[in-house]
Amino acid sequence: MSASPARLVVLVSGSGTNLQALLDACGESGYGAEVVAVGADRDGIEGLARAGRAGVPTFVQRVSDFDSRAAWDEELARVVEGHRPDLVVLAGFMKLVGEAFLAAHGGRTVNTHPALSPSFPGMHGPADALAYGVKVTGCTLFVVDAGVDTGAIVAQTAVAVSDDDTEATLHERIKGAERVMLVDAVGRMAREGFIVDGRRVRFGRTADPQ
Ligand code: GRF
Repeated sequence: MSASPARLVVLVSGSGTNLQALLDACGESGYGAEVVAVGADRDGIEGLARAGRAGVPTFVQRVSDFDSRAAWDEELARVVEGHRPDLVVLAGFMKLVGEAFLAAHGGRTVNTHPALSPSFPGMHGPADALAYGVKVTGCTLFVVDAGVDTGAIVAQTAVAVSDDDTEATLHERIKGAERVMLVDAVGRMAREGFIVDGRRVRFGRTADPQ
């Protein structure tokens, strides 16, 4: 990516605490990125309010406003493209992006998932980890592909499960780790660049890990 701040488009569906962490980091000199737009698949969420308070333009694309999921996906890809992103960050965006989106933004779209991939993909990472009885779970940042939480892994952080955890307490603890991981990894992607080599992701601009 270039010497000017990397342009981030962030997509959200909920409370937007991960978005807030990015907005706060982007306000620090030397972070190397700026949030140029925030998009959502629904109205009335705190994530959009956070963007509004930060003076960042927002857009909403509801699946129900389109004839098909594919039409929604194409329009989402087009609107995101209009903001000329270097990186698209799905931060609690509760929709799978489709073919058109990946054709336009694949390779520069990352998603954060509240489990340690490849364990517990899908919508219920913390609950599934708790039900399985694992003692360690965590969060994963990955480059989005056509699967469900299957993309090449950029960063992971482990989080211990406590005996008295509920889904809510565990998810809250994971989200704390997730925000730190997201800010750190997105900043490095912005400042150092990154290379996706099969399933391996490396920071930096040269293919050679030496
Ligand atoms: C995060 O744990 C994310 O991984 C999951 O939903 C949560 C979103 O939290 N998909 P927030 O909206 O960033 O507060």
